Amino acid sequence: MEINKLLNTGSNHLKNSNIFTHKLDSEILLSKILNQTREELLINLDKKVSLKNIKQFNKLIKRRSNREPIAYILRKKEFWSKNFVVNKNTLIPRPETELMVEKIVNIFQNKKPFILDIGTGSGCIIISILSELKEALGIGVDISNNGIKIAIKNSKKHQLLNKIRFYRKSFTQIFNYKFDLIVSNPPYIVSKDMRNLEDDIKKFEPKLALDGGNDGLDVIKKVIYKSKTILKVKGMLALEIGNEQFKKVSKILRENKFRTRYIVKDYRENVRCILSTLEN
Ligand SMILES: C[S@@+](CC[C@H](N)C(=O)[O-])C[C@H]1O[C@@H](n2cnc3c(N)ncnc32)[C@H](O)[C@@H]1O
Repeated sequence: MEINKLLNTGSNHLKNSNIFTHKLDSEILLSKILNQTREELLINLDKKVSLKNIKQFNKLIKRRSNREPIAYILRKKEFWSKNFVVNKNTLIPRPETELMVEKIVNIFQNKKPFILDIGTGSGCIIISILSELKEALGIGVDISNNGIKIAIKNSKKHQLLNKIRFYRKSFTQIFNYKFDLIVSNPPYIVSKDMRNLEDDIKKFEPKLALDGGNDGLDVIKKVIYKSKTILKVKGMLALEIGNEQFKKVSKILRENKFRTRYIVKDYRENVRCILSTLEN
């Protein structure tokens, strides 16, 4: 069968499974099997594909039609213009998190902060920041053992292992450190809303990375309380938050001696990140 025909078969299969991005996904998956770029694929539409490759492609199409995210099928996701290894133990890095990274990189340009990344997952936040701030050092923690293994893999891949230490532990177990900057994209989805998430997320991404308890603020609150004891005075806490959490989180920050310095909005004008400093 030729590439063109196979792409259409894959795309139609995904379309019948209500995958909105059926055409693109079919192209991405066949590129993966043939080890070619999408562009190479599209200029060779009449080339024949071997039976072995057709079978492999059909397997991937089946996975995608079950709504497994493309990033898990490819085992990678681009973030901050870098490829990160991901698997079912790590959240798939999101574009809104890049907005937080961008703000931090701007604020700390030419400085050398000591940074803690709480709930590091794939390590995408701390690795991206340290790839920009050449003199900074960092620690990433996560309670997911398999998550930490992926973060270590990613720090090796981006040659930053000498600047970052990763620990499998809860942030509540961090003592005796004083950081200049704490960053976190914690789980912040309200437990009862978990069942309304899209299947791609609900069926495949780790619950541990998403579920923020009854009001979605369980982990955020604990991160704020902990940060009070492990941030230097005037140190910065950068928190990614969910839609509609801005007012509540601002109040908790205020009550805990944090002063909001910057906010970052997403493309829909929702505040998605609060950067505050710990006051005396
Ligand atoms: C929303 S994910 C963020 C992952 C990654 N930082 C990113 O932005 O793509 C939240 C992460 O927090 C971790 N986590 C949840 N509770 C934790 C705790 N008490 N201590 C450390 N990590 C925790 C989860 O395992 C998950 O990897």
